[in-house]
Amino acid sequence: MSNRKDDHIRHALAYQSPYNSFDELELIHCSLPDVDLADIDLTTQFAGRNWEVPFYINAMTGGSERAKAINLKLAELAERCGLLLVTGSYSAALKNPSDDSFPTKSIHPALLLATNIGIDKPYALAHQAVEAVEPLFLQVHVNLMQELLMPEGERAFAQWPSNLAAVVQKLPVPVVLKEVGFGMDRQTVLRARDMGVKTFDISGRGGTSFAYIENQRGGHRAYLDDWGQSTVQTLLNLQDLTDEVEILASGGVRHPLDMVKCLVLGAKAVGLSRTVLELIETQPLEEVIAIVEGWKDDLRLIMCALNCPTVADLKTVDYICHGRLKNTYQKREKR
Ligand code: FNR
Repeated sequence: MSNRKDDHIRHALAYQSPYNSFDELELIHCSLPDVDLADIDLTTQFAGRNWEVPFYINAMTGGSERAKAINLKLAELAERCGLLLVTGSYSAALKNPSDDSFPTKSIHPALLLATNIGIDKPYALAHQAVEAVEPLFLQVHVNLMQELLMPEGERAFAQWPSNLAAVVQKLPVPVVLKEVGFGMDRQTVLRARDMGVKTFDISGRGGTSFAYIENQRGGHRAYLDDWGQSTVQTLLNLQDLTDEVEILASGGVRHPLDMVKCLVLGAKAVGLSRTVLELIETQPLEEVIAIVEGWKDDLRLIMCALNCPTVADLKTVDYICHGRLKNTYQKREKR
């Protein structure tokens, strides 16, 4: 029998999204800057602390031999590049106490590490994951359409809001409410904000599609492969909330220009899953480390071309929405 976690990796690598909303967002650049390239500052803040770079490796895997090998490479990449690594859902390790496929703080003391669990898990299991991994924060993922499409998926959802409320109130670490590539709707953000959630990873459509993955794993509803809102559309829908809650963006991020577009739309930081997975599965680790270091240089370069010395300044950049996004063109107030 094939392992579910290995299926996810295989199908995620095989899938190319037919549409990526970043291609329809154009940034208005600057011809007369006031800043030197050397003065560009990549630091950002979210989940109660400062981060040296505004991108991170987002939740992927754990719970199989292949997942373990991938996590070891991701941990080395993250540690050597000073990036945050978020593990895949820790539920596999909760079911199997001998599982050693997830990075933990005790094994990687210098790693910036967070972990992840499904919203279907009650507080006690979320607490167990936090005790085991010792993360800087816990991502709680919502994946309604994925569960519905999985033959073995969850069917009872009415408990989800109270599970979230308990975790937010009682856990000793910050909680990030996270989508898995379908985009997060405004009503969900507002409800969770009222429960005390301060940080949201809105993970939108445009990269990995868990509808596609579950349809490849035996589902028969390929017409739902494009379910959800794109990452840019989701960010546009939430823009007026970005001073009130911390928005993290992910879903279809391929390179530093996509990252900058998320930051322009008010994200505090940007998560990458598939792009990093493909790199570490196809290239030697030293090569991947050089690519990721290059991303930091490229972020500085693009920020300079937009005359923005800080991540916060990017929120003042004008942009044009094309194609499917064109009715949401926004004029920004100048600094
Ligand atoms: C994921 N993702 C994910 N998300 C989550 O919250 N818990 C998880 O366990 C997993 N597992 C997982 C496995 C694999 C192989 C992939 C590629 C992705 C979803 C991920 O964190 C992210 O939200 C989406 O993949 C969208 O980002 P990309 O892949 O388009 O950059």
